[in-house]
Amino acid sequence: MKVVRTEAELQEALEPARVSRRSIGFVPTMGALHAGHLSLLTAAREQGDVVVLSIFVNPLQFGADEDLAAYPRSEEADLEMARDAGVDVSFVPSVDEMYPAGRSTTVSVRGPARLLEGAARPGHFDGVATVVAKLFNQVRPQRAYFGQKDAQQVAVIKALVRDLSVPVEVVVCPTVRESDGLALSSRNAYLEPSERTAATVLWRALQAGERAVEEQATWEVVEKTMEQVVANEPGVALEYARAVAANTFEAPADGEQVLLVIAARVGRARLIDNLPVRR
Ligand code: PAJ
Repeated sequence: MKVVRTEAELQEALEPARVSRRSIGFVPTMGALHAGHLSLLTAAREQGDVVVLSIFVNPLQFGADEDLAAYPRSEEADLEMARDAGVDVSFVPSVDEMYPAGRSTTVSVRGPARLLEGAARPGHFDGVATVVAKLFNQVRPQRAYFGQKDAQQVAVIKALVRDLSVPVEVVVCPTVRESDGLALSSRNAYLEPSERTAATVLWRALQAGERAVEEQATWEVVEKTMEQVVANEPGVALEYARAVAANTFEAPADGEQVLLVIAARVGRARLIDNLPVRR
């Protein structure tokens, strides 16, 4: 596995693949890799010739009051995991490499980026879209892999690819969970043991919501059902529990793929999760 830190080194490492027209599968991450990230790398390994991983804690997508400085960093262990997963090239740029002085362009997204996570975290999705657009241009993959865990990010990236005609296929991989249902997240590291137990309430609420959908409840009742489950868990502060259309994150219309989405604060962690449901 090659580890490259500059755009020039990245291009040099990918030149042979481009010349021989081998397909490139790309997995962008912020590091602190876990089994969720690994599932994306495994899918890329199975479906493509060359696997590129990026590890970059992107300052543009963190708000001023968020956890940029505290965000877990574990480069050595990450690279070890990447090697074992069959990654060919790991791109680990510095902030200066990605954002040199004089940078004057950002990508701005509306639509699904305005609601829920976007409303709670102003500027977050512009930061995500800017770095992902830049990474797409640097890596020029045929396929790029994202987790269903961050469903609204998926909607934003799909809109970016469609609206700017980016020549990449977005592949979405299912959410990887702990045995008790908690979705794997680098931010779970912030949880104290008692908070870790309480954090399963996100998954329990989503499942209760799903049962309500199966019982033909209205979306309003589905949302109330999820809220009630969280209200019964002390120490967890619900931010939202909603049923939304998967592409727009607006209220669902008939026949659209619906997602139950939830966000809550547990201790100093802000956790999100979601569950696709069918009517
Ligand atoms: P990060 O949080 O490191 O996540 C990298 C990728 O792993 C994302 O596509 C995310 O959805 C996926 N992922 C995280 N937890 C997962 C789980 N439990 N199951 C399946 N997939 C999971 O998302 C980002 O980084 C950044 O916003 C990024 C796209 C890299 C842009 O900076």
